[in-house]
Amino acid sequence: MSRIVLGVSGGVAAYKAALLLRAFTEAGHDVRVVPTPAALHFVGAATFEALSGNPVTTDVWSDVDEVAHVRIGQTADLVVVAPATADLLARAAAGRADDLLTATLLTAHCPVVFVPAMHTEMWLHPATQDNVATLRRRGSVVLPPAVGRLTGPDSGPGRLPEPADVAALATVVLAGGAGALAPDLAGRRVVISAGGTREPLDPVRYLGNRSSGKQGWALARVAAARGAQVVLVAANVELPAPFGVRVVPAGTAEDLRTAVLAEAADADVVVMAAAVADFRPATVAGTKLKKGSAAEPSAVPLVRNPDVLAELVAERRAGRLVVGFAAETGDADGDVLAHARAKLARKGCDLLVVNDVSGGRVFGRSDNAAVVLAADGTATELAEGSKDAVAAGVWSTVVPRLS
Ligand code: CTP
Repeated sequence: MSRIVLGVSGGVAAYKAALLLRAFTEAGHDVRVVPTPAALHFVGAATFEALSGNPVTTDVWSDVDEVAHVRIGQTADLVVVAPATADLLARAAAGRADDLLTATLLTAHCPVVFVPAMHTEMWLHPATQDNVATLRRRGSVVLPPAVGRLTGPDSGPGRLPEPADVAALATVVLAGGAGALAPDLAGRRVVISAGGTREPLDPVRYLGNRSSGKQGWALARVAAARGAQVVLVAANVELPAPFGVRVVPAGTAEDLRTAVLAEAADADVVVMAAAVADFRPATVAGTKLKKGSAAEPSAVPLVRNPDVLAELVAERRAGRLVVGFAAETGDADGDVLAHARAKLARKGCDLLVVNDVSGGRVFGRSDNAAVVLAADGTATELAEGSKDAVAAGVWSTVVPRLS
């Protein structure tokens, strides 16, 4: 359990702060909500008090005996300000202390994450961009806003990311500090494949696998939070698109190959997190295979699918990194790392993220642990944590290797 301060400033997106608060408390965190007075025009203090189980005040004149304007910041493990309006970012950058939230920001020793939400013009204004640069230079995380429908008929960058995305990214900062969401992928184009391919047998049946797509989703979400332009080629994943990420659906290995190779053309990094079926049925029946019919199969002959990772390696241009994934189990021929080292050499990719799946671990779970093997022989162990925290570890291994 961590102590999280949820700062809320006065924008329409303040209603999403209630959902974010809920996500934090459901994850077991103790949350103290500190709204600005303007935020209470949008969501009442009673909502935040009921959902957090903690008192809610906006000014420094309440609970004076507890010296709340100092204590709340001092004792926090993480401060998340969502939504962070243009005005809040300006006051934070200027170091003002004219309400309880800005006073808290001045006394917090812990990582601070600002989640901006405002109209596109306000976000793009040089004053706001300067304030964001100032806050980032001082070590705070300022997430890029989501792009989409804003209040009224306009759309553009300025939306608050979905609370589930913000909650997932908060786990990254709790585990790895503000540096785990540094904007070090700004200007980079990243392609990630995720999920599991389905190879049809007939119009209703397929050969599939147990990949949930969650690790690929986390890689995409964290890359977008770190400033990358992200394309997620998704094989049969039902999850909502992470904010700032373009999702290209793919069904079969062949679909995934076509999409990944097309999207990879101008990518700086391609990460193959998808579980691509190595084989597909040699023939696909045009109508449903019926029991007792002449077409009832006694066996399913399989043919090899293309190896997308191998093709990416073969056509890799200078400066592009290709990252593979390997789910391995130890056996009589070697342990997990021995198999993974052999696979890295065989596949020829720059990095291989290795999951130990002995005993059914990893698939569908929300936690993960991994080792990243590099072609230069180094091995980086990523501690067990949320899939977003593991994703941040993968990107931190990738970034120094980018040209
Ligand atoms: N992969 C791919 N195309 C395939 C199969 C796998 O691009 N047809 C990619 C996966 O996305 C992953 C990596 O290759 O990044 C490792 O996949 P894996 O199936 O473990 O590799 P194989 O060479 O098939 O190894 P094994 O002999 O263990 O099956």
